[in-house]
Amino acid sequence: MAIRPVLKMGDPLLYQVSQPVTAFDTPELHALIQDMHDTMTAMQGAGIAAPQIGVSLQVVMFGVGKNPRYPDAEEVPFTILLNPMLTPLSDEETAGWEGCLSVPGLRGLVPRYTQLRYQGVDPQGQTIDRTVSGFHARVVQHECDHLFGVLYPMRIRDLTQFGFNEVIFPGITLPDD
Ligand code: NI
Repeated sequence: MAIRPVLKMGDPLLYQVSQPVTAFDTPELHALIQDMHDTMTAMQGAGIAAPQIGVSLQVVMFGVGKNPRYPDAEEVPFTILLNPMLTPLSDEETAGWEGCLSVPGLRGLVPRYTQLRYQGVDPQGQTIDRTVSGFHARVVQHECDHLFGVLYPMRIRDLTQFGFNEVIFPGITLPDD
């Protein structure tokens, strides 16, 4: 168990394509997942991807409970997802504000597919296959982008909608997720 340093935007590791996981339910995989969980929890994130702690493997975790800090956010079940494949279910997009543990202190308005299906496996290798929309879909797209070397600022279309938390949302304490 360890809280690991989170790589920040600019680190070349964040722009690499991660490798699929090929061995499931192993001590090494469980140790990685534990470190990701400890780090995400310590930093009050809504999600984290393995590359953010310097491991170039296709592993993400995310989850948002009922939380006064996310007043408008729908609940997202805590999920550990490996080797994900995302399929948008329509061209419809929704713009929403995002932050990231690798881009601390900033927020940007990011378009994401509104509805999508995601498939992958859990740490035991069991199938995950869900159709989701809204905030759940946004969180999945943000985290899975990390596995393909994409950080949310790279998806912002209007860079006037990118800035510091305390300037864009004065008086509100926002987590980096
Ligand atoms: Ni992120």
